[in-house]
Amino acid sequence: MEPAGASPEKSNLSGLARFPRKDSGVVPVSLSAGIKNEPHKRIKTGIGEFDVSVGSGLVMGQSVLIGGDPGIGKSTLMLQVSERLAASGVKVIYISTEETLAQLLLRAERLKLSSENLLLVSLNDIGDILYLIEKGDFGFAVIDSIQRVLAQGAESSFGSVNSLREAANEITSACLKKNCGVFLVGHVTKEGNFAGPKTLEHIVDTVLYFDSGKKDSYRILRCYKNRFGSTDEIGVFEMRESGLSGVKNPSSYFIEERRAGSPGSVITACIEGSRPFLVEVQALVANSFMPYPKRVFLGMDNGRASIICAVLEKKEGIKLGTKEIYLKIFGGVAVQEPSIDLPAAVAIVSSYLDKEVPRGFMAFGEMGLTGEIRGVSNALARVKEAVSSGFTDIIIPESNLKDLNAMKNMKKGVVIHPVAKIKKIIEYLGQLK
Ligand SMILES: Nc1ncnc2c1ncn2[C@@H]1O[C@H](COP(=O)(O)OP(=O)(O)OP(=O)(O)O)[C@@H](O)[C@H]1O
Ligand SMILES: [Mg+2]
Repeated sequence: MEPAGASPEKSNLSGLARFPRKDSGVVPVSLSAGIKNEPHKRIKTGIGEFDVSVGSGLVMGQSVLIGGDPGIGKSTLMLQVSERLAASGVKVIYISTEETLAQLLLRAERLKLSSENLLLVSLNDIGDILYLIEKGDFGFAVIDSIQRVLAQGAESSFGSVNSLREAANEITSACLKKNCGVFLVGHVTKEGNFAGPKTLEHIVDTVLYFDSGKKDSYRILRCYKNRFGSTDEIGVFEMRESGLSGVKNPSSYFIEERRAGSPGSVITACIEGSRPFLVEVQALVANSFMPYPKRVFLGMDNGRASIICAVLEKKEGIKLGTKEIYLKIFGGVAVQEPSIDLPAAVAIVSSYLDKEVPRGFMAFGEMGLTGEIRGVSNALARVKEAVSSGFTDIIIPESNLKDLNAMKNMKKGVVIHPVAKIKKIIEYLGQLK
């Protein structure tokens, strides 16, 4: 029986007639021969925080979408990256669809950038852009921004999702044919209108988002998708008059404002991508005069934090029922991983007992429903980060102790405190003066 709506003429056509077989001339390559002939070459821009974000450098022909709020610094970053690529011998074309050549040159002058290999042009017609890419011999092309490319073929209006998708498809295909890498800059508005760049995410190899950090001048570059490297890597930058500069020790950026003499504060190491970062967890436990005491948890999962409170109440005798609890993770990061349990519990107990966690201490670990401390991933990396930032007393889950064997010579003065139960830490804090 014919499927409803199918035309008899069409259904009579065999696959052979509809898709005539032909020899494309392309010969499949054996895996081992292919690997020998086409070694994977990474191109480093030399802007350390950028290279880390894209997974140890770029790959020839890679297409990257970079999104972010208006004015966050996308064009600045792209111009700096383009200049570094050009300085390393890669020919780059920077096509601005929003700014005039004079404006581009003004920015380049302010950033003190200059390179023969970097070509600048202000254009927004898709035909003109494709012509340039196809006729040129560029290693990388930047389209800033993809929203302002005028795609004639699209049936809907300028800047619409259809037009955007068509422009991105045409440009990435043209670049792919020439083995030319491409950066597409996309706007994401403050209202969270992801409709533009979000629809492009499947077209490109890598998706980066540029966010503002804790301080006005800090910027965080996050990788959300990467066909050639790990995702969730972050790069931390500071926006200065002379442009974006990498923040050398991101951990110190995350904890630099921590003050001594403050019960309820503890440092932990969380993992973003494959990098450990130190962050500060603060808790404030205060008497409540309300029938339902307020609980606010910022930067960590509400459910996780509620479980920690319940375990402390039921298993450890920390009477939180009549207390308001505020908990906050500092550093502009939301910590999703289980290792935040132990520091959150320590911060709450420290505030409840009004006992300061001694300086030099840091802690990480997952907490079970009976108050047991469970091991977490990347223990060695977390400990190393803490030690290199000057921490001397590291509280770790007992089951993670074996992971530290690889750490040959522990720095002098550093003590590792393995714990199996939260009770041990509560007792320790309780006996402090
Ligand atoms: N003379 C200057 N001194 C210091 N910072 C400046 C100067 N001019 C611009 N900036 C910084 O650069 C930012 C603009 O950067 P940029 O144009 O790269 O952002 P963008 O993300 O490309 O913006 P848009 O979405 O509008 O294209 C400003 O918000 C400002 O912080
Ligand atoms: Mg811009």
